[in-house]
Amino acid sequence: MAYPYRDDRETTTLLSRYMGEPEARTLDGWLERGGYEALGMALEMKPDEITEIVKESGLRGRGGAGFPTGMKWGFMPKENGREHYLCCNADESEPGAFKDREIMRWTPHLMIEGCLIAARAIRAEHVYIYIRGEFFPVVRVLNQAVVEAYEAGYIGRSVLGSGWSCDITVHLGAGAYIAGEETGLMSWLMGGRAEPWMKPPFPAARGIFGAPTTVNNVETLASVPGIVANGSAWYRQWGSDKSSGTKLWCCSGHLVKPGNYELELGVPLSEIIYDVCGGAPDGRRVRAVIPGGSSTALLTADELDCETTYEGMQAAGSALGTASPIVMDESTCLLSAMRRIAQFYAHESCGQCVQCREGTEWIAKILRRIEDGDGAMKDIDTLYDLCEQLTGRTICVLADSVVFPLRSSLDKFRDEYESHIQQDACTAT
Ligand SMILES: Cc1cc2nc3c(=O)[nH]c(=O)nc-3n(C[C@H](O)[C@H](O)[C@H](O)COP(=O)(O)O)c2cc1C
Ligand code: SF4
Repeated sequence: MAYPYRDDRETTTLLSRYMGEPEARTLDGWLERGGYEALGMALEMKPDEITEIVKESGLRGRGGAGFPTGMKWGFMPKENGREHYLCCNADESEPGAFKDREIMRWTPHLMIEGCLIAARAIRAEHVYIYIRGEFFPVVRVLNQAVVEAYEAGYIGRSVLGSGWSCDITVHLGAGAYIAGEETGLMSWLMGGRAEPWMKPPFPAARGIFGAPTTVNNVETLASVPGIVANGSAWYRQWGSDKSSGTKLWCCSGHLVKPGNYELELGVPLSEIIYDVCGGAPDGRRVRAVIPGGSSTALLTADELDCETTYEGMQAAGSALGTASPIVMDESTCLLSAMRRIAQFYAHESCGQCVQCREGTEWIAKILRRIEDGDGAMKDIDTLYDLCEQLTGRTICVLADSVVFPLRSSLDKFRDEYESHIQQDACTAT
């Protein structure tokens, strides 16, 4: 078996097994650990065979939306009439998420290998890795790995003598959150502003330079070599039917042991927060959790017994998103937390859609006013109304991203808003 196996729930390390081992960053170190064996196997297969294995594995995109990866690859045209592209989305700017940078920092060749296999499957001969510009140390590691892989013939002309050629370009971002949205990312790669465009056409029909393109997240692509080397049934031994495999959980906020943990999908969220991360520090109680990164609906402490699968989190009224729970204990003012989230999205709106450009700004201003003690009860209705106006009416879902946490906090912690408005006092302890 070329890739790590299951030990037990706490040490299910398909992606994180070599994190912390500096030798794994080097090509030699990676080869010693079974690296690039999966690429060799993929080169023996037809592109559609690779796609079929990934489809059967049930792997779903780890960039937030959870779209089935094999199905996405299957949308790419089958003919070789014109160039195809793969974009690896290494932007990772969702507040709360910090997993992709660790994959690239410790095991850059794992991701590169995943990129090459995916490129082969979708008949691409050029991969763009779009990486957040602020990740300076990570960029250095990644660039070094790309150079090494070029020199050893894993990237470039006729990869490993197969006759199939593939180049990789690492392209840096300049700090815009919206460049992580796939069409914004492609606009940026083509030299424009990172402004999303309307879908359809979807990237598989019309992507960078007008050519068929697939955009995948770092963690998605890093999951691929293991699947190709060990088969889809191997991957399906973890997780549920609709949410197979393992997931890196970025746990932050009021926790005794915050950090990245790789866990099988489906572990109850309460287990992650209390057993794995030790709960809130100093004996304080958990008040609320935003489970999937800042753009997901928050859950109260009583709602944490949900299964951490895509379907389980949806049934709980939230989303798995990037699996980045932000834990807030009883000392947290939720109004203040929502104001900060709203400010973030208002700042990051690209400004193309009126609802998003104006609406996120209004929400931030109203929340600020309430926080400053100048709110009125009708502000709550206005906030609900704004949530309505921002949902499903814009080019991309950045606008919706502020609605999910805000509306859930209004529904579940209305007393917090009322207390600020009526008594200029917070319900946090
Ligand atoms: C505002 C916004 C920001 C996003 N940022 C990221 C990001 O930083 N990284 C990422 O992989 N996906 C991000 N996405 C999702 C991408 O648009 C896309 O769905 C994803 O890269 C597809 O990869 P996957 O199928 O492997 O998940 C973002 C989406 C939106 C709407
Ligand atoms: S929703 Fe916001 S970020 Fe997305 S395209 Fe419209 S203005 Fe830009």
